[in-house]
Amino acid sequence: MTSISLSRFLLEAQRSHPDAMTPDLRLLIEVVARACKTISNAVNKGALGNVLGNVGTVNVQGEAQKRLDVLSNEILLEANEWGGHLAALASEEMDDPHPIPNRYPKGEYLLVFDPLDGSSNIDVNVSVGTIFSVLRCPEGVREPTAADFLQPGSRQVVAGYTVYGPSTTLVLTFGQGVASFTLDREQGSFVLTQRALRIPEDTSEYAINASNRRHWDPPVQRYIGELDAGKTGPRGRDFNMRWVGSMVADVHRILTRGGIFMYPVDAKCRDKGGRLRLLYEANPMGFIVEQAGGAATDGRQRILDVQPHALHQRIGVFLGSRNEVERVTAYHLGAA
Ligand code: AHG
Ligand code: MN
Ligand code: MN
Repeated sequence: MTSISLSRFLLEAQRSHPDAMTPDLRLLIEVVARACKTISNAVNKGALGNVLGNVGTVNVQGEAQKRLDVLSNEILLEANEWGGHLAALASEEMDDPHPIPNRYPKGEYLLVFDPLDGSSNIDVNVSVGTIFSVLRCPEGVREPTAADFLQPGSRQVVAGYTVYGPSTTLVLTFGQGVASFTLDREQGSFVLTQRALRIPEDTSEYAINASNRRHWDPPVQRYIGELDAGKTGPRGRDFNMRWVGSMVADVHRILTRGGIFMYPVDAKCRDKGGRLRLLYEANPMGFIVEQAGGAATDGRQRILDVQPHALHQRIGVFLGSRNEVERVTAYHLGAA
């Protein structure tokens, strides 16, 4: 079988879906993928690359920034500034949106990203990743502000993530299903390795940070309690638990073999609105999961329908195998 590079895949997508894949979007994805290759190389060098540890600064979320958080952010900014495909960028690691410098042309898209997801796993050599989401810049806006990014996830035109694991994998949707690509380090290019990822509707695997159990709301207590009761409980079968602690890696497992991933709003994070961020974690992952036949809710409503009110807004997340997400959502709504 001839191998299909990301470039060829995108060009063919442009021919078959000219409305969903414009030349500018194609360029944008190529540029993000190139930046992710650079990040992958930095992650790969580990202790040899002087990229581990903290930089001593704190981001807008109040989290200590790791060297790789800052480096990955810079790599993505630098790669995307000059191509003429973007109107502005926003990231977990920057308080406010980053404008395109005046010396470069401006495009019609907005890019928002989590440059390095799973920061706590960097120093221990466990999978981390990059998550990104592409929106249209509102009509007539020349100097986008944070308000222009506040669009519901259903308006995303592209979403993707890269997981830097034993291999580097790029997963992508532009609203026509989900494809995944593996980085061929010898060729230096991403190669298509799966065309139409599907998440099984049913699963016996779940992912949640169980150390928060005492903080969970009753619907989550009930749902997890039933899973943990196993064969002799109301579900009549055993469930297994997996938790990497990097959302990208946990979601990638679900894309690969099914499962449900949960980061609910609980008593510990309620004042912040949740743990995970809507614009650059929940929305892109929600879009990808839905495109693969799964579901994504905040416990009550579809994540992609939520109208954001702040760039760094947080939200509860339940995503993955459809029947499990629907069940735990029904528990929240008092419908089961
Ligand atoms: P980030 O490293 O971009 O700040 O995101 C970390 C997120 C996510 O990857 C993971 O699911 C979650 O934080 C884990 O958080 P806790 O260890 O606090 O449960
Ligand atoms: Mn993250
Ligand atoms: Mn991050």
